[in-house]
Amino acid sequence: MSRYRSLSVSFFLFAIVTVHGTSAARADEVTALASKEASVEQRVDQIIKKLTLDEKLGQFTQMWGGVKQDINPEQAALQRNDLEGQVRSGMIGSFLGIQSAARANELQRIAVEESHAGIPLILANDVIHGFRTIFPIPLAEAASFDPDAVRLSARISAIEAGAVGTHWTFAPMVDIARDPRWGRVAEGSGEDPYLGSVMAKARVEGFQGTDLTAKDTILACAKHFVAYGGAEGGRDYNAVDISLATLHNVYLPPFHAAVDAGVGSLMSGFNSLNGIPCTANQMILHDVLRDRWSFDGFVVSDWSSATEMVTHGFAKDDADAARQALLAGIDMDMSSFSFRTHLGKALEIGLISMDDIDRNLARVLRAKLRLGLFDQPYVDPEVEARVILCKEHRAAARDVARRSIVLLRNENSTLPIANTAKRIAVIGPLVSAKKDALGTWSVFGKPEDVVSVEEAMRARAGESIDVKFARGCGVLEDDRSGFDEAKKLAAESDYVVLVLGESEDLSGEAHSRSMLGLPGIQLDLAKEIIGLDKPTAVVLMAGRPLSVPWLAENADAMLMAWHLGVETGNAITDVLFGAYNPGGKMPITTPRNVGQVPIYYAHENTGRPPTDERYTSKYIDVPWTPLYPFGYGKSYTTFSFADLNVNGTEFATDATIEASVALTNTGKVAGDEVVQVYTRDMVATLTRPVRELKRFKRVHLQPGETKTVDFKIAVSELGFFDNNGQYRVEPGTFKLWIGADSEATLGAEFEVVPVAAKAMTKVAD
Ligand code: BGC
Repeated sequence: MSRYRSLSVSFFLFAIVTVHGTSAARADEVTALASKEASVEQRVDQIIKKLTLDEKLGQFTQMWGGVKQDINPEQAALQRNDLEGQVRSGMIGSFLGIQSAARANELQRIAVEESHAGIPLILANDVIHGFRTIFPIPLAEAASFDPDAVRLSARISAIEAGAVGTHWTFAPMVDIARDPRWGRVAEGSGEDPYLGSVMAKARVEGFQGTDLTAKDTILACAKHFVAYGGAEGGRDYNAVDISLATLHNVYLPPFHAAVDAGVGSLMSGFNSLNGIPCTANQMILHDVLRDRWSFDGFVVSDWSSATEMVTHGFAKDDADAARQALLAGIDMDMSSFSFRTHLGKALEIGLISMDDIDRNLARVLRAKLRLGLFDQPYVDPEVEARVILCKEHRAAARDVARRSIVLLRNENSTLPIANTAKRIAVIGPLVSAKKDALGTWSVFGKPEDVVSVEEAMRARAGESIDVKFARGCGVLEDDRSGFDEAKKLAAESDYVVLVLGESEDLSGEAHSRSMLGLPGIQLDLAKEIIGLDKPTAVVLMAGRPLSVPWLAENADAMLMAWHLGVETGNAITDVLFGAYNPGGKMPITTPRNVGQVPIYYAHENTGRPPTDERYTSKYIDVPWTPLYPFGYGKSYTTFSFADLNVNGTEFATDATIEASVALTNTGKVAGDEVVQVYTRDMVATLTRPVRELKRFKRVHLQPGETKTVDFKIAVSELGFFDNNGQYRVEPGTFKLWIGADSEATLGAEFEVVPVAAKAMTKVAD
């Protein structure tokens, strides 16, 4: 049965060309109920009343809708027919992996016009750091310490993804990660809950915009709820065993920030949390998310994470897994099909009730209504060609990429490259990288869109600089046959740029590493080239911080350039030649070696903090300090911090602290400094971290310019969660530091006192 409707007119005004039988009439009735005039809640109730049980279970079901690469056209056609048949019979409520506006409209038309219930599909994709215009990996974007840049990146991702009919992205990934072995560290904002929260909010705002019904905004999904980044040993999918206090103080805040920013959905993690898989974890999915945070969006399970609970040893079979997931608060089942297969029976034998089904179903329908899918199910295919990878998007990608680069070292002002350098050798396995420059999870990115370092250097060099390139070796291979050519090139040059690091497949999902140094024989290559004593700048491209202590001592200059996306070469070249002064900061601590992991700035002091004394908390074979601390990054100019001012020495628990500092650009070029505020609660009923980031601002200053940078921090933000999950703001002494990284020394001290005590002091005054 089919009916055809106009693409552009609101659904209830559509001209119905043919209407057949009762199912079409019913579909009409359902869609008509979803009229704009009724409130979302009324519309949800009314739609639910009209659905059969199977249709309800179909709404819970999400399926991969792409076409397999390794099948012939006939098999592909069969696969497509099968998918379409399932949509027609109401067995599917959502797809992931639909890649074009045409296909999105095709499937949507079947759902809306040919299925019995006529409920539109919600189409999801992993738009993690750009759609076709690939931006830096999220970890790199976090290094910008610039929420505006991050918001813009998400905004542009939404514009492009929306144009091909994507309604929903599985981003932002807001998992705090303190173990760089974990491959998915690349997808998040690093180790710090405050930085992670600021970035989570910016990304949600960027994706969702101010009007979710607009075609250039998409629903966001904060993932993976929760503590997935705490995977033991940094091994992907591994178990997580942490205290309740750590859960609340470290892993939950970015999710809470996303919820506060209005995120429409969450995804449950693959991991178990203290023995309970996240996909059936009542405490996090219900008590925290629904009760405490009043979240009224929906939760999708991760890929087959529902049925994986059988493998976890938590559910006895798929039916048990589906029941537990539904009851804990999973509203959509990604690709395990256990909901639609087993929940009917569970209902029949009384293991779940229709209310259980309707409660979760309402959350899915609410999202579809909020996205305006009932009113405008289709996407205009014209927009796709106009917006995808357009000039403006590339320009933004270049700027965000430049802002994400961190200058780690710069002896003798080796960078920027002086204009006296006339023969430049550019050496390393990533010199011409395109696919690798895109980074992990660049599903819709295309290597041919990438400007490589080689291409950008050639363009920049023009006639005046003789620039030559050599690969030297591969990222992972141990073939040294290219060393000689690379050395010869370096010897004949007056400046060397080494482009080293990780290929894109060394980070991301299921790509954890047990070593954190340069892979393969790259360090050997670097040693031989640096041994030639030419001024040498190292550009590190990677999905994680790299433990490179030898380079940190012996390279003249070093840039952390991550995987920067389509504008990689242009951004790096802008920085190498000084057209852009780098101002990014490390969003995650860089260990000296893998044995230091976990190493993060907000650690506890312990009873024996490390000193030169023997019986203190440290290793005997490596310094206790990291290679680069959290928040670290240099500039082509220098900055000084002075006149730290805090507006008092005593604050009531309901007061707001105002702190300021005078920042001066003491160097010769304009540049950015990220001014960072850290605090410490000196004595508390739970031992607290030695420092916690509370605020930051990326500030641009001309040479010689001074700016007063001020911050407001509510005392209530200085509290912490205890092991009962209760938030406490405890009176006592606090320290505060403002500076350029997590080792800032300019500090002040103040007391927090109970509100009543402060009032008494006022009377006494
Ligand atoms: C990942 C998710 C992703 C999903 C869909 C899973 O394997 O863990 O982050 O969104 O696949 O592609």
